[in-house]
Amino acid sequence: MTAASASPSVQPPEDRVLSLYQLLDPEVLANPYPLYHKLRSQDPVHWDPFLHAWIVTRYSDVIHVLHHFSANRTPTPEQLSALNLSALNPIAAVMVRQMLFLDPPDHTRLRALASAAFTPRRVEQLRSHIHDVMDTLLDAVVSNGGMDVIADLAGPAPAIVTAELLGVPAGDHALLKEWSQDFAEMLGNFQHNPDRFPRVLRSVENLCSYFRSAMQEQYLNKREGLVQAMMTAEIEGVRLTEEEVIANLIVTLVGGQETTTNLIGNGVLTLLRHPAELDRMRADSSLIPSAVEELLRYESPSQHTARLAPADVELGGKRIQKRQAVIAVMGAGNRDPERFPEPDLLDIARKNNQHLAFGWAAHFCFGAALARLEGQIAFDTILRRLPQLRLNTQGPLVWRHNLGLRGLTSLPVAFGASDPKRNLGVAT
Ligand code: HEM
Repeated sequence: MTAASASPSVQPPEDRVLSLYQLLDPEVLANPYPLYHKLRSQDPVHWDPFLHAWIVTRYSDVIHVLHHFSANRTPTPEQLSALNLSALNPIAAVMVRQMLFLDPPDHTRLRALASAAFTPRRVEQLRSHIHDVMDTLLDAVVSNGGMDVIADLAGPAPAIVTAELLGVPAGDHALLKEWSQDFAEMLGNFQHNPDRFPRVLRSVENLCSYFRSAMQEQYLNKREGLVQAMMTAEIEGVRLTEEEVIANLIVTLVGGQETTTNLIGNGVLTLLRHPAELDRMRADSSLIPSAVEELLRYESPSQHTARLAPADVELGGKRIQKRQAVIAVMGAGNRDPERFPEPDLLDIARKNNQHLAFGWAAHFCFGAALARLEGQIAFDTILRRLPQLRLNTQGPLVWRHNLGLRGLTSLPVAFGASDPKRNLGVAT
């Protein structure tokens, strides 16, 4: 099969059946797991002519790709200019400096400096702030007997926490979220929507000038947070350039928002669909950390990522050519029966649950510790304060169009007369 000659109308039906483009069908998007199972059992390393990319769905193959293939996949401004797409150069100029799209040695240097700025101590310091954010957001809705989990809690909470993490005014969180949502369209998504480019471009320019001013301000007035820490991080005399600080503040801002929103939103929905597991969690809050891992595995907020083959290589009996694109579907690897017994079963106490929701190897999620903490505190707060939680919608749930970042547009729930007690400082 040659990719170059492929077109949707002449492909044999099995190619269409196995294409990840099936996710454009709302029914498949609502439940992509049968498609993933089909791919994994019929053609685990599958050439998708519609996406012009290999689709990898086995747990062990996803790990192999994330370990060994190149993350350097975003076009440079020079390449875009050659394609007459120089209007997109400001976006490309940011992306080529983001750790997510770099290989060693650039990735190693950037990640080490950024990690020196984002320490476990910093995450721990945010614990009481996160409790406060979740409680304050619930205070606003608890007497209504219902809420939209996404609009009222899962959306704003990570935005507010991220502003604190960065060390910028909390009041800017809505603006940062809006720009960040636009930028997220460039990540984890294989649809191209040229109509959206002007808006994405504007938001990238806004983000760059926002962080440039924050840096200028913080040269004069130091403030605890990632902006200051990235500006000053130094290892053996090496520092990040101003452009690298800005690009990696943006990827940290964007990486931590919609994903965490989706962890909370997808998690609440999954628990509501599995009432016995929800009751088990309510009865024993020590299960919350393992429940968060299981929810990450079961409905992964980031379903897939892309890499390029570093050379002509063989994987799963298929010959992949150098620089061909490979989509590693973490959402499918996380349901691989070879790795997870009864993968479609939700077990909040699942053992040996090394899922792929945060990726693997060098690019393993930079904010995983924070995301886990936010998830644990969100579920603790919901369980503690919202008894008789139930779905409150007649119509079908609508999933977001970004096919890589799996999450709901809204999740209306109702709850009974609540215990309005806020957290009194009990550690979670
Ligand atoms: C539930 C929430 C989250 C999920 C599911 C998630 C998922 C992921 C995944 C799958 C990757 C690897 C992508 C790849 O290999 O191509 C990644 C990388 C990354 N994440 Fe997260 N993420 C979450 C939260 C966060 C948070 C809270 C932050 C920041 C505070 C963050 C910042 C990043 C960054 C900067 C990278 C790039 C790391 C690198 O390239 O070395 N993420 N994340």
